[in-house]
Amino acid sequence: MDSDLSLEFLRVVEQAAIACAHTMGQGDRHKSDQVAVEAMRRVMDTVPIDGTIVIGEGERDEAPMLFIGEKVGMAHALHGESAGGFPQVDIAVDPLEGTNLCATGAANAIAVLAASSRGGLLHAPDLYMEKLVVGPSSKDHVDLDAPVADNLTAIAGCLGRTVEDLVVIVLDRPRHEELIAGIRATGARIRLIGDGDLSAGIAAAVVGSGVHAVMGTGGAPEGVLTAAAMRCLNGEIFARLVVATPEHEARCRAMGITDFKRVYRSKDLAPGARVIFAATGVTDGALMRGVRFFGDGVRTSSLIMQNDPYRIRFIDSIHVTMSKDVKIHF
Ligand code: FBP
Repeated sequence: MDSDLSLEFLRVVEQAAIACAHTMGQGDRHKSDQVAVEAMRRVMDTVPIDGTIVIGEGERDEAPMLFIGEKVGMAHALHGESAGGFPQVDIAVDPLEGTNLCATGAANAIAVLAASSRGGLLHAPDLYMEKLVVGPSSKDHVDLDAPVADNLTAIAGCLGRTVEDLVVIVLDRPRHEELIAGIRATGARIRLIGDGDLSAGIAAAVVGSGVHAVMGTGGAPEGVLTAAAMRCLNGEIFARLVVATPEHEARCRAMGITDFKRVYRSKDLAPGARVIFAATGVTDGALMRGVRFFGDGVRTSSLIMQNDPYRIRFIDSIHVTMSKDVKIHF
């Protein structure tokens, strides 16, 4: 897979973000998601790839677009079927990560995708996943099964500060009552979030973001996308699927997963030699600003990353829609 594709994928996440940003605060999360999906699908077919969605909006029956197994990219658009000459690329998409965040105008909604050559992203079922996400300094010093106090002591040591100075992000859910109590008992600071553990994970791997770890259970698809981001940021995710019922087991088996207790790291979830990660802010967030409409055009803020060669790009784009007398501000 050619690393130049990263700028092609930039267009895809930008247009998805712009589309759903129009619905910000309208209180209709399904509508927000739908317009993001439609825009992402449309632009994806202009990217010169023979692409397959491996993490998407769900199974074919429940998702009209960007369903798992769907063919996308120019090869599909030009020939209807996979055609030679285009690189084969597996793609994980979350056209709107944080549907509620967009619907309520809250921070940290993003449009996001990850890409790798065929087989480079785990086909994870849409189950819950236990997660621990940390940055480069502490990635070799924590353990998903260690007591929370031990992990926080290790992270603090690696960062040369006290546990009380740490900020841990946790999804605000009843299932996290015990985890939150455990973190509070250590004196560490907590940021409870309504949604969006993917953008939280990215922040945890970026020094200076003010976030030092993400803990708790969230979506497995978001876990795979987080892993792709970690491959580019040298951070780490430790993750285990929550397989609680025979139906969960069957869904795992259907995707070739038989070890239900396995602890995955980012190289297991996103094993591809070359990984590309692209995200555009929909609403304002820690690392990306939200979409801004200014009459003559639209301004977007994106994070485009690849691991080979390593490039982390923070991209500020101005999409001019009215060229006559347009005024560009710094
Ligand atoms: P959506 O974008 O589908 O709304 O998901 C947002 C999210 O908060 C993820 O960031 C997180 O992994 C997952 O949902 C948590 O699931 P749940 O809301 O069921 O606890």
